[in-house]
Formats: sequence, C-alpha cells, structure tokens
Amino acid sequence: MPRKIVVTSALPYANGPIHIGHLVEYLQTDIWVRFQKMCGNQCLYFCADDTHGTPVMLSARKAGIDPEQLIGRMHAEHKADFDTFGVQFDNYYSTHSPENKYFSELIFTRLNEAGSIVTRNIEQTYCENCTMALPDRYVRGTCPRCKAEDQYGDSCEVCSATYQPTELINPYCATCGATPTSQTSKHYFFKLADYEDRLRKLIAEGYAQQSVANKLDEWFTAGLKDWDISRDGPYFGFKIPGEENKFFYVWLDAPIGYMASAKNYCDRNGLDFDELWNGADYELYHFLGKDIMYFHSLFFPAMLMGSGFRPARKLFVHGFLTVNGEKMSKSRGTFIKASTYAKHLNPECLRYYYAAKLTDGIGDIDLGLDDFVGRTNSDLVGNYANLASRSGPMLTKKLNGRIGRLDSRGAELVKKLAAARNQIMRDYEDLKYASAVRTISTLADEANRYVEKNQPWATIEAEPEKTRTVLTAVINAVRILTIYLKPILPVYAGKVEQFLNVGELSFADTETVLEDHEINKFERLFERIDRKQVDTMIEESKDSGVPQAAQAAQEQTSLPPAGSPFKPECTIDDFAKIDLRIAKVIKAEPVEGADKLLSLQLDVGGVSRTVLAGIAKAYTPDQLTGKTVIFFANLKPRKMKFGTSEGMILAAGPGGKEISMLTADQGAQPGQQVS
Ligand code: 2FM
Ligand code: ZN
Repeated sequence: MPRKIVVTSALPYANGPIHIGHLVEYLQTDIWVRFQKMCGNQCLYFCADDTHGTPVMLSARKAGIDPEQLIGRMHAEHKADFDTFGVQFDNYYSTHSPENKYFSELIFTRLNEAGSIVTRNIEQTYCENCTMALPDRYVRGTCPRCKAEDQYGDSCEVCSATYQPTELINPYCATCGATPTSQTSKHYFFKLADYEDRLRKLIAEGYAQQSVANKLDEWFTAGLKDWDISRDGPYFGFKIPGEENKFFYVWLDAPIGYMASAKNYCDRNGLDFDELWNGADYELYHFLGKDIMYFHSLFFPAMLMGSGFRPARKLFVHGFLTVNGEKMSKSRGTFIKASTYAKHLNPECLRYYYAAKLTDGIGDIDLGLDDFVGRTNSDLVGNYANLASRSGPMLTKKLNGRIGRLDSRGAELVKKLAAARNQIMRDYEDLKYASAVRTISTLADEANRYVEKNQPWATIEAEPEKTRTVLTAVINAVRILTIYLKPILPVYAGKVEQFLNVGELSFADTETVLEDHEINKFERLFERIDRKQVDTMIEESKDSGVPQAAQAAQEQTSLPPAGSPFKPECTIDDFAKIDLRIAKVIKAEPVEGADKLLSLQLDVGGVSRTVLAGIAKAYTPDQLTGKTVIFFANLKPRKMKFGTSEGMILAAGPGGKEISMLTADQGAQPGQQVS
C-alpha cells in the first residue's frame, strides 16, 4: 500500500529574500519528498510565507506601500527562487490568508475554552512618537552590564548579557530615536506548563531526533513558562477575537500556516482536510532548523493538543549552514541570495553539494567553496555525466543509436549497481543523504572503471557489435545511477530520460534492464565550474547580500517617523553639499561582463570624468553620445568591480528598460552649475 505523507518546511519570513542558508532546509525537504514520490507514495509538500509582525509592517511603511503589497511582492520573489532551485511545493501559500485567520481564531478560542489562556497586565516599552509598543529588537541603548553603547533591547552583542529593555541605560527607539516610556498593557498568555506531561509523552514516543530530545529535557528541567501570544497595535497580523487593538503574536499564527496551506490545497483538490491532518492514514512531518525547535517541539504541539488537533508524527531538525567554516557574512560576501547564486551557478550543483553533506543530525553543514568547485567537477562532470558522454555519442554516431543485449560481464555490473538499491532507499528515507551520495559515487566509479577496462573507443571500428554490448552495459549503468540521483538532480535526470528515450524513471525501474532499444542524441549534462564564477558571485554578494536579522532591525534606525512614506529627513545644508553640473557625453561604451552598465566619458567644462551608469538596458551607447546630461559632480568616487565611477548622472525610473535620463537644454554649457 502506498503511504500517505504530508510534509512541511519552516515558513520563510516575508521581509527578506531567500538565501543559501534557507536552501539547506528546502532542498533537504524537497529531496525527501521527491524520493517518496519516486517510491510511489502520495507525499504532499506544504509551505507558505510567514507574513506577520513588526518588521514587515515597518518595511512596508519604509517603502511607502501597504504590508499586503509588500508580502505580495515577496511571495512572488520567494516562489520564483524556489522554482529556480527545483523546490516543488504542492502548495506555497501565505499566513495572511482566510484559512489561517480561521484556524488561528479556532485554536485560540478552543484553548481559551479549555482554560489554557490567561490574561495579565505587563509593563511594555512604548514609543510616544511612533505611538507603538516596541519589540525588544526595536529598543536600543547602553548595555547595563558592560556599558557597550548601541545594543539591542534584549541582549548585548559585546558581552552576550541578556536583559529586559527596561534595564538598558539611555534607551532610545530604534525607529525614531525618541526616549521610550513604559506602558501597562493587558496581554494574553498560553499556559504551556499545563501540557508538560503530554509533551513529555510525545517526545518519549519519538517526536524528534535524540539530540533534540536531549535539548528538550533541559527545557523541561528549566521549567515551562507562560508564553505571551498577544501584541498591541499597530501590528500587522490577525486581531484577537473580542479585542480592538490586540493581535496574535506572529509566532502564534506562523505554524498554523502549515494547516492553512494544507487546507487551501485540500479545498482546491477535493481532499478532506480533517482526514489529512487528523486521520490515521496520514503521516505528518515538519522539517525545520535547530533555531526554532522550541516553537515546534513545545508551543505548537501543545497548542494543537489543546485544541483537538493532532501534532506531527515527527520533527526533522537540521543544523545551520557555514561557508568556508564560518558563519555567513555580508562583509565576506558569503551571505548569498538564492537569486544571486542562480545568476552565476547551476542550482543543481548546490542541490548535489548539500545532499553530499546532509545527515540526519543537527550538526551544521559547511559549504567549502573550493570543495564545492572540486566536487562539482569531479562528481557531476567527471563521474556521472562522463559515463553518459563516453557512451552516448559513440552509439548515436557509429551504432545507429541502438543498444543491444547485455553479456554476462555487463549483466554483472548492472546487477551490482541494482543491488545497492535498498541501502540507498533506506538512506534517503532516514535523511542520510551523504551516505546515499557516497554509495552512488562509488558505483559510478565502478562503472567508469568498466569503461576504462573495455575501451569501447578502441574497438568501435573493428568490432562494432562487441562495442555495442559494452555500451549497452554502460547505458544501463547510467540509467540506474540516474534513478538513484533523481531526487537530488531532477533536471539532470530529466535530460538523461530524454537521452535514453525512456519515460519517468522511478525506483521500481531498477528491477528491469534496458535492451534492444533506441536512444536519442546525447546533449551535454553538466558544465564544469570555474572558480572565477564563484568569486564573481561572492563579489556581487558583498554589494547586495542579505541583511542579517540583526542588521534588518538596525536598519530601522534610519526609518522615517511613523506615517511618512519617505526616507529620513535631510536639511537644506545637506542638500547644498550636492554639486550638480551640466556634462556632455563624449563617449559611451558597454562594460565587459556587466550587462547593465555603460561606461560614459563626460566633459564637465574642460574636466573629464568617467562614470559607470546602470542604464545599459534603457539606452544603447549611440543614443547617449553627444547628449547633455546632469552630473552629480562631487559624489565620492566609488570603486566597483568593473572600475571606478567618478560621480553619477541623474536618471529616474523603476529600473531595467524603464529609466529616463535627465537631460539639459541644448544651450546648456558643460561645467555649468545646475541650481
Ligand atoms: O524562523 C523563521 O524564519 C520563521 N519564519 C519560521 C516559521 S516556521 C513556522 F512555524 F511557521
Ligand atoms: Zn519611535
């Protein structure tokens, strides 16, 4: 009987792009889901954007748009990134959805009726200027312990002390700089400790890996505390039933988003949600990072148990990503956005590299950049693709593209490869992808040795039929290895299926062989990676990397006062510092390797300046030569990867093709000041 499985990955926040750290989890999950589907199981993969909370509200305000618009854009961006990396959700939804509102209210109401919710007054930090309660990360000040300045409201980055925002010396609002006050407010709390016995039982029954269970023991020993599940408005989220200005804390409705995504899918596909979530036929698993274990192993299952829903069968917790052995860092250029990676490198190489490193544990995995290049070239190009590229062209060019029958030695090789199937399947099932990859790579070595030994290129002219027999074994080896690699490398597998002229391969196909069969023309399967591609990606990430969560909060220091859609105020003195001049474009030319840039040589009244302008999509060099433009003359020269830009020309527009240069009257003289 095929299994019925439901799988989720943690919901990414809607206030930032997907980066290669996120991808560890989505790729780990996607490989597992693809594996299950290839085994003939029904496996549904649900996820969504995590849309609520203060950062989204403030980012939207900063951009001068509604939070709904912001989360709409982010949803499209995230989805596009996941598509690029082959992460195939059955539903990618949003926590800002009617289904999520329904379930959040239902669960809250049931917990309330069960006596698991209490209210009490708390003192919260409040900014009179922003008219909002400030989350800990939005209050800054001097650390009460080591006296380091400019620290967050909950912890000090210098001495690692943790404290209450009210303990900060000289606190200020990170948004507007005003000194916050304290305000009494009623908050709702979930009585987590009421669920201790049931949670202990759940964990004893194998709800999480052993290392997670050990951590949970520590938390039980420390004592389970009431959890504050409400936030005062203004807040982007769902209102608490019966309240005017109180909202569910984002972490209350975020995991409920798993259910919302599933419900939305069920409604559109004629499935019964209750059966899927609560029925005995379905197995439910959550994939997540070790940083959010507390929410998934305590709060969420307790909330579900208290409201008549079933918690997952098991959590699959993984570690963090390091790059070259260190935390991802914007300054080192290793905080790499998914979209930046995909601009420079093949997403399947990252899928393979992560798989080659992933185990069932919660240890961190390291992306060693030299190792990544080496592994791609040796395994993907040199081992797997090589096998096909050594046999395919010979068959199609010299042997009418037909394979024949296996001889005993060929059959022996194929049998050996097929015999590894159960071990590889067990490894996939148990999340031991590194082990599966080791086995597959050893088998591919063996198949390549078979080619070396039989040297088909040496026999093709004199003994074509003997060569056909050898190549038949090689093609069968390619087929079996492709089946094993397919959960990790779906695009590669698709190309091999096309080349072999076979339908969608599944694990059951290892039981048969391919004989007396016509194959298609061979197309290249993988390109070698050059270390320079990686270096270019790193350079680009230094300019446009992802702000870390901490930095995101820090960025709020430059936010405008609440209600203003514009950047922070500047004075007339600030503006007077800008020296705008008329300039004539003497020469315009493309910049090699930068398809958005043009290099412009300007005459600014007898002074020559070179500017690199990001307008190549909107203008050809010819359209610009001879134009009179407005030049920001005293902008500090900026060293870019492609040269130094000595100022800036003024242009406006959303970007890409839609940019218009600000031009001056024909009579305007180069060097003339613009006021
Ligand atoms: O840590 C995070 O990125 C959260 N957005 C994960 C939420 S997972 C689930 F609970 F929604
Ligand atoms: Zn403020």
